[in-house]
Amino acid sequence: MTRRPERPPDVLLTCRFMRRAVCPGSYDPVTNGHLDIIERAAGLFDEVVVAVLVNKKKQSLFGVEERLEMLREVTSQWPNVVVDSWHGLLVDYCREQGISSIVKGLRAVSDCEYELQMAQMNQRLSGVETLFMFTKPENSFLASSLVKEVATYGGDVSNLLPAKIERRLLDRLSEQN
Ligand code: PNS
Repeated sequence: MTRRPERPPDVLLTCRFMRRAVCPGSYDPVTNGHLDIIERAAGLFDEVVVAVLVNKKKQSLFGVEERLEMLREVTSQWPNVVVDSWHGLLVDYCREQGISSIVKGLRAVSDCEYELQMAQMNQRLSGVETLFMFTKPENSFLASSLVKEVATYGGDVSNLLPAKIERRLLDRLSEQN
């Protein structure tokens, strides 16, 4: 009598066919623009990993652990979003995690040149594909660096990032003065 092969448990099937993507960034700190992209990516993929990576061109205001904590707080409403960090090349993280898609947000055409270069480099290094999503128009001017600069000089940033993050940003800036 031939025995039918045992069916793998559903959990294994789910893992095998799960569509996972990474949303990498500095997130120093996370803004409404980031959250727009993360939420929309979470609607397209089974799991989205929001990964804090180091951008050598930028000096950070918050440590990696602080950025992770803030991201966890503001993404907790999406069950398929997880938060992680990595020191090193993004493609090495993707390889280690078995992730084949990177999702990035584009605010304007001016973002394209740098993002295109990174996407092509990452593709060449590893075959990992980068998918671009345009931010909602109301976020097209939004950048963590600009938010920090405006807040430093007392400008109102309350509509640009979640209230909890704004509080932490203002606290950090006042600690520095
Ligand atoms: O939010 P940012 O600063 O625009 O994000 C840029 C980031 C962190 C995603 C990018 O600098 C990055 O991927 N850094 C990790 C190191 C790496 O892989 N560098 C080669 C890029 S082709």
